[in-house]
Amino acid sequence: MAAQQPTAAPRPPVHGPVHVPVHVAVIMDGNGRWAAARHLPRVAGHREGARAVRRTIEAAIDQGVAWLTLYAFSSENWRRPAGEVLDLTGLLRHYLKSEIAELRANGVRLRIIGDRARFPADIQAELATAESSTAANTRLNLNVALSYGARDEIAQAARALAIEARAGRLDPEAIDAAAVAARLSTAGMPDPDLLIRTSGEQRLSNFLLWQAAYAELVFQDVLWPDYGATHFAAALAEFARRERRFGARPG
Ligand code: FPP
Repeated sequence: MAAQQPTAAPRPPVHGPVHVPVHVAVIMDGNGRWAAARHLPRVAGHREGARAVRRTIEAAIDQGVAWLTLYAFSSENWRRPAGEVLDLTGLLRHYLKSEIAELRANGVRLRIIGDRARFPADIQAELATAESSTAANTRLNLNVALSYGARDEIAQAARALAIEARAGRLDPEAIDAAAVAARLSTAGMPDPDLLIRTSGEQRLSNFLLWQAAYAELVFQDVLWPDYGATHFAAALAEFARRERRFGARPG
Protein backbone atom coordinates (compact mmCIF):
# COMPACT_ATOMS: atom_id res chain seq x y z
CA MET A 1 0.00 0.00 0.00
CA ALA A 2 1.37 3.46 -0.91
CA ALA A 3 2.37 5.74 1.94
CA GLN A 4 -0.17 8.47 2.66
CA GLN A 5 0.92 11.83 1.23
CA PRO A 6 0.61 14.86 3.45
CA THR A 7 -1.90 17.31 2.02
CA ALA A 8 -1.78 21.10 2.17
CA ALA A 9 -5.33 21.48 3.47
CA PRO A 10 -8.19 19.04 3.99
CA ARG A 11 -10.66 19.09 1.12
CA PRO A 12 -14.17 17.67 1.16
CA PRO A 13 -14.48 14.50 -0.94
CA VAL A 14 -15.93 15.21 -4.39
CA HIS A 15 -18.30 12.22 -4.24
CA GLY A 16 -18.57 12.10 -0.47
CA PRO A 17 -21.88 11.67 1.29
CA VAL A 18 -22.14 15.43 1.83
CA HIS A 19 -22.33 16.10 -1.92
CA VAL A 20 -24.43 13.28 -3.32
CA PRO A 21 -28.13 14.03 -2.82
CA VAL A 22 -29.95 11.30 -0.93
CA HIS A 23 -33.19 11.91 -2.80
CA VAL A 24 -33.53 13.20 -6.36
CA ALA A 25 -36.93 14.05 -7.83
CA VAL A 26 -37.42 14.53 -11.56
CA ILE A 27 -40.11 16.25 -13.63
CA MET A 28 -39.66 14.48 -16.95
CA ASP A 29 -40.73 17.05 -19.51
CA GLY A 30 -40.42 17.47 -23.26
CA ASN A 31 -41.60 14.17 -24.75
CA GLY A 32 -44.14 15.91 -26.98
CA ARG A 33 -41.67 18.49 -28.26
CA TRP A 34 -39.10 15.76 -28.93
CA ALA A 35 -41.63 13.93 -31.09
CA ALA A 36 -42.89 17.10 -32.83
CA ALA A 37 -39.34 18.06 -33.81
CA ARG A 38 -39.12 14.73 -35.63
CA HIS A 39 -42.62 14.88 -37.15
CA LEU A 40 -43.53 11.83 -35.07
CA PRO A 41 -46.71 11.19 -33.05
CA ARG A 42 -46.48 12.20 -29.37
CA VAL A 43 -46.50 8.56 -28.30
CA ALA A 44 -43.10 8.14 -29.95
CA GLY A 45 -41.77 10.76 -27.54
CA HIS A 46 -43.29 8.95 -24.57
CA ARG A 47 -41.83 5.65 -25.79
CA GLU A 48 -38.39 7.19 -26.04
CA GLY A 49 -39.05 8.81 -22.66
CA ALA A 50 -39.48 5.35 -21.14
CA ARG A 51 -35.96 4.51 -22.38
CA ALA A 52 -34.69 7.64 -20.67
CA VAL A 53 -36.36 6.44 -17.46
CA ARG A 54 -34.28 3.25 -17.69
CA ARG A 55 -31.05 5.23 -18.27
CA THR A 56 -31.82 7.55 -15.35
CA ILE A 57 -32.49 4.68 -12.95
CA GLU A 58 -29.11 3.18 -13.92
CA ALA A 59 -27.41 6.56 -13.51
CA ALA A 60 -28.95 7.04 -10.06
CA ILE A 61 -27.69 3.62 -8.97
CA ASP A 62 -24.22 4.33 -10.41
CA GLN A 63 -24.04 7.68 -8.62
CA GLY A 64 -25.09 6.24 -5.24
CA VAL A 65 -28.42 8.07 -5.03
CA ALA A 66 -30.66 6.23 -2.56
CA TRP A 67 -34.06 7.67 -3.54
CA LEU A 68 -35.40 8.64 -6.96
CA THR A 69 -38.91 9.99 -7.54
CA LEU A 70 -40.14 10.34 -11.12
CA TYR A 71 -43.21 12.35 -12.16
CA ALA A 72 -44.68 10.07 -14.81
CA PHE A 73 -48.35 11.14 -14.86
CA SER A 74 -49.93 14.10 -13.13
CA SER A 75 -53.53 14.32 -11.94
CA GLU A 76 -53.94 16.99 -14.64
CA ASN A 77 -52.69 14.64 -17.38
CA TRP A 78 -56.11 12.92 -17.40
CA ARG A 79 -57.32 16.03 -19.24
CA ARG A 80 -55.12 15.28 -22.27
CA PRO A 81 -56.84 13.92 -25.40
CA ALA A 82 -58.25 10.41 -24.78
CA GLY A 83 -55.90 8.90 -27.35
CA GLU A 84 -52.81 10.20 -25.58
CA VAL A 85 -54.09 9.05 -22.17
CA LEU A 86 -54.63 5.61 -23.70
CA ASP A 87 -51.11 5.67 -25.15
CA LEU A 88 -49.62 6.61 -21.77
CA THR A 89 -51.53 3.96 -19.83
CA GLY A 90 -50.64 1.41 -22.53
CA LEU A 91 -46.98 2.34 -22.20
CA LEU A 92 -47.20 2.02 -18.42
CA ARG A 93 -48.78 -1.45 -18.78
CA HIS A 94 -46.01 -2.49 -21.18
CA TYR A 95 -43.28 -0.96 -18.98
CA LEU A 96 -44.50 -2.76 -15.87
CA LYS A 97 -44.49 -6.11 -17.63
CA SER A 98 -41.12 -5.65 -19.32
CA GLU A 99 -39.11 -3.89 -16.61
CA ILE A 100 -40.05 -5.48 -13.31
CA ALA A 101 -37.60 -8.36 -13.63
CA GLU A 102 -34.86 -5.82 -14.42
CA LEU A 103 -35.77 -3.64 -11.43
CA ARG A 104 -35.75 -6.70 -9.20
CA ALA A 105 -32.37 -7.84 -10.51
CA ASN A 106 -30.93 -4.36 -9.95
CA GLY A 107 -32.07 -4.16 -6.33
CA VAL A 108 -34.65 -1.46 -7.02
CA ARG A 109 -37.66 -1.09 -4.73
CA LEU A 110 -40.62 0.38 -6.61
CA ARG A 111 -43.33 2.38 -4.91
CA ILE A 112 -46.19 4.29 -6.48
CA ILE A 113 -47.41 7.62 -5.16
CA GLY A 114 -50.63 9.19 -6.42
CA ASP A 115 -54.22 8.17 -7.01
CA ARG A 116 -53.76 4.71 -8.50
CA ALA A 117 -57.49 3.99 -8.20
CA ARG A 118 -58.06 6.01 -11.39
CA PHE A 119 -56.12 3.46 -13.49
CA PRO A 120 -57.74 0.37 -15.06
CA ALA A 121 -57.98 -2.64 -12.71
CA ASP A 122 -55.32 -4.68 -14.54
CA ILE A 123 -52.77 -1.85 -14.18
CA GLN A 124 -53.61 -1.50 -10.47
CA ALA A 125 -52.98 -5.22 -10.06
CA GLU A 126 -49.64 -4.96 -11.93
CA LEU A 127 -48.64 -2.02 -9.73
CA ALA A 128 -49.42 -3.96 -6.57
CA THR A 129 -47.42 -6.96 -7.82
CA ALA A 130 -44.50 -4.73 -8.81
CA GLU A 131 -44.44 -3.13 -5.38
CA SER A 132 -44.72 -6.35 -3.40
CA SER A 133 -42.20 -8.24 -5.52
CA THR A 134 -39.56 -5.52 -5.08
CA ALA A 135 -40.35 -4.71 -1.43
CA ALA A 136 -37.20 -6.35 -0.04
CA ASN A 137 -34.83 -4.41 -2.33
CA THR A 138 -32.61 -1.72 -0.84
CA ARG A 139 -30.19 -0.48 -3.52
CA LEU A 140 -32.45 2.21 -4.93
CA ASN A 141 -35.85 3.37 -3.71
CA LEU A 142 -37.77 4.30 -6.83
CA ASN A 143 -41.02 6.22 -6.47
CA VAL A 144 -43.11 6.68 -9.57
CA ALA A 145 -45.73 9.42 -9.27
CA LEU A 146 -48.86 8.35 -11.17
CA SER A 147 -52.05 10.39 -11.24
CA TYR A 148 -50.24 12.51 -8.68
CA GLY A 149 -51.05 16.06 -7.62
CA ALA A 150 -49.46 17.73 -4.60
CA ARG A 151 -52.47 19.89 -3.71
CA ASP A 152 -54.73 16.82 -3.62
CA GLU A 153 -52.13 15.01 -1.54
CA ILE A 154 -51.95 17.85 1.01
CA ALA A 155 -55.74 18.21 1.09
CA GLN A 156 -56.04 14.50 1.76
CA ALA A 157 -53.58 14.77 4.66
CA ALA A 158 -55.60 17.70 6.07
CA ARG A 159 -58.77 15.64 5.75
CA ALA A 160 -57.16 12.70 7.58
CA LEU A 161 -56.04 15.01 10.41
CA ALA A 162 -59.49 16.56 10.69
CA ILE A 163 -61.16 13.14 10.83
CA GLU A 164 -58.77 11.99 13.56
CA ALA A 165 -59.36 15.20 15.52
CA ARG A 166 -63.14 14.87 15.21
CA ALA A 167 -62.92 11.29 16.48
CA GLY A 168 -60.96 12.54 19.50
CA ARG A 169 -57.82 10.64 18.57
CA LEU A 170 -55.77 13.77 17.88
CA ASP A 171 -55.43 17.11 19.66
CA PRO A 172 -55.77 19.86 17.00
CA GLU A 173 -53.26 21.93 18.99
CA ALA A 174 -50.70 19.17 18.46
CA ILE A 175 -50.83 19.34 14.65
CA ASP A 176 -47.40 20.34 13.37
CA ALA A 177 -45.40 19.88 10.17
CA ALA A 178 -44.39 16.35 11.18
CA ALA A 179 -48.07 15.41 11.66
CA VAL A 180 -48.86 16.60 8.13
CA ALA A 181 -45.78 14.89 6.62
CA ALA A 182 -46.78 11.62 8.29
CA ARG A 183 -50.06 11.64 6.35
CA LEU A 184 -48.62 12.33 2.90
CA SER A 185 -47.98 9.58 0.36
CA THR A 186 -44.27 10.01 1.10
CA ALA A 187 -44.60 9.38 4.87
CA GLY A 188 -41.36 7.99 6.25
CA MET A 189 -39.33 8.92 3.17
CA PRO A 190 -36.61 11.59 3.11
CA ASP A 191 -37.52 14.87 1.42
CA PRO A 192 -35.96 15.43 -2.00
CA ASP A 193 -32.62 17.27 -1.84
CA LEU A 194 -32.54 17.94 -5.55
CA LEU A 195 -35.43 18.49 -7.95
CA ILE A 196 -34.67 18.38 -11.65
CA ARG A 197 -36.95 19.54 -14.46
CA THR A 198 -36.04 18.96 -18.07
CA SER A 199 -37.00 20.75 -21.29
CA GLY A 200 -36.14 24.26 -20.09
CA GLU A 201 -39.50 24.87 -18.36
CA GLN A 202 -39.11 26.34 -14.87
CA ARG A 203 -42.22 25.30 -12.93
CA LEU A 204 -43.08 22.78 -10.20
CA SER A 205 -46.41 21.84 -11.83
CA ASN A 206 -48.02 20.58 -8.60
CA PHE A 207 -45.17 18.13 -7.88
CA LEU A 208 -44.06 17.45 -4.28
CA LEU A 209 -44.98 20.98 -3.16
CA TRP A 210 -44.67 20.09 0.52
CA GLN A 211 -41.67 17.80 0.29
CA ALA A 212 -39.57 20.06 -1.97
CA ALA A 213 -39.64 23.00 0.48
CA TYR A 214 -35.83 23.00 0.71
CA ALA A 215 -34.91 21.13 -2.46
CA GLU A 216 -32.33 22.62 -4.77
CA LEU A 217 -33.97 23.20 -8.14
CA VAL A 218 -32.04 22.41 -11.30
CA PHE A 219 -33.60 23.16 -14.69
CA GLN A 220 -31.93 21.44 -17.61
CA ASP A 221 -32.34 22.46 -21.21
CA VAL A 222 -32.71 18.95 -22.59
CA LEU A 223 -35.87 17.21 -23.74
CA TRP A 224 -36.65 14.17 -21.58
CA PRO A 225 -36.24 11.51 -24.33
CA ASP A 226 -32.63 12.71 -24.79
CA TYR A 227 -31.86 12.49 -21.05
CA GLY A 228 -29.14 10.17 -19.81
CA ALA A 229 -26.23 9.57 -17.46
CA THR A 230 -24.31 12.68 -18.54
CA HIS A 231 -27.24 15.01 -17.84
CA PHE A 232 -27.91 13.33 -14.50
CA ALA A 233 -24.24 13.69 -13.52
CA ALA A 234 -24.35 17.37 -14.54
CA ALA A 235 -27.37 17.97 -12.29
CA LEU A 236 -25.60 16.27 -9.39
CA ALA A 237 -22.49 18.38 -10.03
CA GLU A 238 -24.64 21.53 -9.95
CA PHE A 239 -26.19 20.32 -6.67
CA ALA A 240 -22.71 19.78 -5.19
CA ARG A 241 -21.82 23.40 -5.99
CA ARG A 242 -24.85 24.79 -4.15
CA GLU A 243 -24.58 25.77 -0.52
CA ARG A 244 -27.61 24.54 1.41
CA ARG A 245 -28.55 26.48 4.50
CA PHE A 246 -32.16 25.36 5.23
CA GLY A 247 -33.10 28.93 6.07
CA ALA A 248 -30.26 29.35 8.57
CA ARG A 249 -27.53 31.97 8.31
CA PRO A 250 -24.07 30.79 7.16
CA GLY A 251 -22.05 29.71 10.20
C1 FPP B 1 -43.96 15.12 -20.28
O1 FPP B 1 -43.81 15.37 -21.64
C2 FPP B 1 -44.05 13.70 -20.02
C3 FPP B 1 -45.20 13.05 -19.63
C4 FPP B 1 -46.49 13.70 -19.44
C5 FPP B 1 -45.21 11.60 -19.42
C6 FPP B 1 -43.96 11.01 -18.85
C7 FPP B 1 -43.89 9.62 -19.32
C8 FPP B 1 -42.74 8.97 -19.61
C9 FPP B 1 -41.41 9.53 -19.40
C10 FPP B 1 -42.76 7.63 -20.21
C11 FPP B 1 -43.42 6.60 -19.43
C12 FPP B 1 -42.84 6.39 -18.09
C13 FPP B 1 -42.99 5.28 -17.40
C14 FPP B 1 -42.51 5.17 -15.99
C15 FPP B 1 -43.61 4.11 -18.03
P1 FPP B 1 -44.91 16.22 -22.40
O2 FPP B 1 -45.78 15.25 -23.12
O3 FPP B 1 -45.60 17.13 -21.46
O4 FPP B 1 -43.99 17.00 -23.41
P2 FPP B 1 -44.22 18.44 -24.02
O5 FPP B 1 -44.23 19.42 -22.87
O6 FPP B 1 -43.03 18.61 -24.91
O7 FPP B 1 -45.51 18.39 -24.78
